[in-house]
Amino acid sequence: MTAVYQRLGVNIDHVATIRNARGGAHPDPVKAALLAVEAGADGITAHLREDRRHISDDDIARLVAEVRRPLNLEMAATEEMVEIALRHRPHAACIVPERRQERTTEGGLDAAGQFEHLQPIVARLRDAGIRVSLFIEPDNRQLEAAAKLGAPVVELHTGRYCHLTGAEEQAELARVRDAAKFGASLGLEIHAGHGLRTDNVGPIAAIPEVVELNIGHFIIGEAVFVGLGEAIHQMRAAMDAARKAAL
Ligand code: PXP
Repeated sequence: MTAVYQRLGVNIDHVATIRNARGGAHPDPVKAALLAVEAGADGITAHLREDRRHISDDDIARLVAEVRRPLNLEMAATEEMVEIALRHRPHAACIVPERRQERTTEGGLDAAGQFEHLQPIVARLRDAGIRVSLFIEPDNRQLEAAAKLGAPVVELHTGRYCHLTGAEEQAELARVRDAAKFGASLGLEIHAGHGLRTDNVGPIAAIPEVVELNIGHFIIGEAVFVGLGEAIHQMRAAMDAARKAAL
């Protein structure tokens, strides 16, 4: 059996977090994106938050213009963000829930509960040729809603898996595995992400249905110690080793 190649999308939000701490232009997240591509990233992910706490509108314009790999724009399901996505037409848009007070995305989108709100948004993005993904919990009800909404892709939230330990971690891992299998059986393309590190990425990377991981905070943090290229190589190696061992 050959495993389907698993793409690594590198999220460069936190390069912008460091830049914004001083309000200048350094470090430049677009430069980081170009370096990430050089180091083997299959795509670049950036989250334009409503409060613009890290990535800015200008960063998105420059990423679209300068980066020659697929851009995955993470966005809240708001009219403002839909208009921005339609203006820039990134390769992909990942719809995430957003609360202003949260430190980072805290959970999956309630695709089932917000069905009516999400339906026209998914349709407008899809009609513009943007590959829509919904960031959801590994939960069958949410997967069914995503498929019914016509989203071709879901990204399974791995944040809970990453925070738990022992038996709870294993139970959450089983939930992600089952969701990946069920989602694929519905015809959804399965991605995963949030909170992944080189020491916990293996079991998620080994799930055969998961064809893309989006990873940011750990890679950018690790880049302080080993450089961005090396941090990406190490993540890529951890993913590849786990996928190979699972064959
Ligand atoms: N996927 C989604 C939908 C996210 O919101 C985030 C965080 O911006 C990530 C992946 C990456 O998470 P982390 O930065 O913890 O690797």
